[in-house]
Amino acid sequence: LKEIHEQAAVSAELLHWLESAQTVTPILERIQKARHLYLVGCGTSYHACLAGAVYFGSIAGRPAVPVLAPQFIAQYAPALSPKDVGIFVSQSGETKDVLNAIEAARRSGMTIYGLVNVIGSTLTQISERWLPLVCGYEISVPATKTFTNQVIAFLYLALHMGNVPPSSLARLPELMEQTLEKVEPQISLLEQYFTESRDMYGLGYGSTYPIALEGALKLKEVTYIHCEGMLSTEFKHGPLSAVDEGYPIIFIAGPEDVPLIVSGVNEVTCRGARAIVIAEENRQIRSNATNMITLPPAGSLFLPVTSIIPLQLLSYRLSVARGYD
Ligand code: M6R
Repeated sequence: LKEIHEQAAVSAELLHWLESAQTVTPILERIQKARHLYLVGCGTSYHACLAGAVYFGSIAGRPAVPVLAPQFIAQYAPALSPKDVGIFVSQSGETKDVLNAIEAARRSGMTIYGLVNVIGSTLTQISERWLPLVCGYEISVPATKTFTNQVIAFLYLALHMGNVPPSSLARLPELMEQTLEKVEPQISLLEQYFTESRDMYGLGYGSTYPIALEGALKLKEVTYIHCEGMLSTEFKHGPLSAVDEGYPIIFIAGPEDVPLIVSGVNEVTCRGARAIVIAEENRQIRSNATNMITLPPAGSLFLPVTSIIPLQLLSYRLSVARGYD
């Protein structure tokens, strides 16, 4: 809970650091010339890679391939070349799966960059260049503040590469603070619907797809409730058949995706599911969802950063409510 509440402060630290960093420009110049750009990590760090790929593609017009570290070896190692760039993402900088992927990358001669929290870790020693996450110690095993700073670092790079002035980022720390204040009381009202659940889904689309996966991971990790994250449009291709009375499904909706998400909501509520939608206030969502968790207005750019906060808090609250220390 302490680290969830530190997120706004460490995001300000990161933005401040990035503004004065000498490493950002050479990294961006190299990425721009790369044949392929790979974003590689595990677990939560991989989910940040997914969000980064959405930002690079949609803001900077730079396709990026997000990939889980062990699969990077199996799928891409034989095809890598010195023309490629990999950004290897890790809180600890010591995850063996990531270090193994770097070993394979090194053999190909590709450029290796790191995005890492622990300075002095192996990842900082073996990367050509690295950017720090500037989060301070993350003591909690469930990653929270390092995830939001990983996503913000990718957003910063994508905005620069897309020649979009990153000045709008200055309001992000305050927005994260407002999000915490706004969602905390809403979560306390909703937790009762989940305490007895054994199974649920988190569904997102576009930039909230990685958030559905990350929210599901946090829920599983600390509440021991099985929760699967998925692209919302995939739900009808099979999993829909598992839905029955009261089945909890959390949707995360961007302002541009409202019609798509509402159609997904209706598909599950007509089978009796409880559809909880995390979104900015919206009349259409409010009248179709069973419950809504309202975010402060922020627009789609910041949505991956704000929308993970209620899922982190829900994980914490449910864990406490279920009696886990
Ligand atoms: O230190 P890393 O970021 O490389 O760790 C990778 C994963 O083990 C990690 O992100 C894990 O999924 C989270 N701690 C889960 O909350």
